[in-house]
Amino acid sequence: MKALVLSGGAGTRLRPITHTRAKQLVPVANKPVLFYGLEAIASAGIKQVGVIVGDTAAEIQAAVGDGSSFGLEVTYIRQEAPLGLAHCVLIARDYLGDDDFVMYLGDNLLQQDLASFVARFEARRARATAPRLGEELPLMPSAQILLKQVEDPQRFGVAELDPSGRVTRLVEKPTVPPSDLALVGVYLFDPHIHEAVASIAPSARGELEVTDAIQWLIDHGQVVHSEVLDGWWIDMGKLTPLLEANRLLLEGIERRVDGELDAESRLEGRVVVEAGARLVRSVVRGPAVIGTGTELVDSFVGPFSAIGPGCLISHSEIEHSVVMGSSRVVHAGRIEDSLLGYDVEVTRSARRPRATRLMVGDHCLVDLS
Ligand code: DAU
Repeated sequence: MKALVLSGGAGTRLRPITHTRAKQLVPVANKPVLFYGLEAIASAGIKQVGVIVGDTAAEIQAAVGDGSSFGLEVTYIRQEAPLGLAHCVLIARDYLGDDDFVMYLGDNLLQQDLASFVARFEARRARATAPRLGEELPLMPSAQILLKQVEDPQRFGVAELDPSGRVTRLVEKPTVPPSDLALVGVYLFDPHIHEAVASIAPSARGELEVTDAIQWLIDHGQVVHSEVLDGWWIDMGKLTPLLEANRLLLEGIERRVDGELDAESRLEGRVVVEAGARLVRSVVRGPAVIGTGTELVDSFVGPFSAIGPGCLISHSEIEHSVVMGSSRVVHAGRIEDSLLGYDVEVTRSARRPRATRLMVGDHCLVDLS
């Protein structure tokens, strides 16, 4: 079993954060979203991983390297343009060979462990060649997909199941969804998928859709098995899911203090203070993480906040927010439900005339109190 991780594409919906950066590297609880996927792949016992990269290839490669820090052997596969998820399978044909593989979307974050999902696929395939005593020969699944009930199925690929739970139809971002079961961005395939991706035509949005490729498998008599995900799942398309993912992951952290705090500072609950971070007359109420080299001075960091490395938070309060790194927040009052990119400055000056002065790029949002 190999893995194919999709880390190309353009993150238009997370703009402006992803104008210049790969959306798969947006940190959640101070760790790039892509790393959670790579860790899940490693703990499922998979070693060989093909990573699809596009315009942000250099950044992804700098972050992931040869994969050895995850216990993986990573091969990069360059995609000239974001021509669709099935296009990624098409260009990975030589790399994947005749192996089964898990396809993992680099911007998806899910709670369920990958190992058991893979194990169930392998067990179903094994039983199709060697059924249990007295059992009728089950059909061999050539793909296994993961579904999750969502409130806004229009934003996703959507599955229709027959009463026995078998997938009968899949549609990508339908205006009238046939169900509320969205396709989660983790798929298992055997080599039949290669014929499928080579046979389909681009969709109305000009992409080779993996949803259409799976539909092709069904239409050509292949068995596509589906499972409904138990735990949470986040597609990091927008700000709200990003803050939600941050909250869900911070809920699972353990207290660890490698940085320093002075006698007038206090940590409440599960807080991670990374090495080189420093608290001066400040309070952090967990769950929260304070990144390497970050300084908090006369400040309060409240629950569900991830403050990245190299920041200065001074005379300010931050809660339920992500501050990515190398930012300065000084005399900023109280900030909540916010996402600050890298090298951001939020400050209050005594300059006259008193006014709100902004230097805000494209696609930003400013909500003044
Ligand atoms: O998140 C689950 C959804 O992902 C599924 O429900 C949909 O059926 C599936 O089509 C996909 O929809 P999105 O529109 O959210 O996909 P997105 O364009 O965000 O791409 C997903 C990941 O794949 C992302 O990390 C970027 C990468 N990608 C995307 C395209 C189109 C590539 O590497 N190359 C590409 O050509």
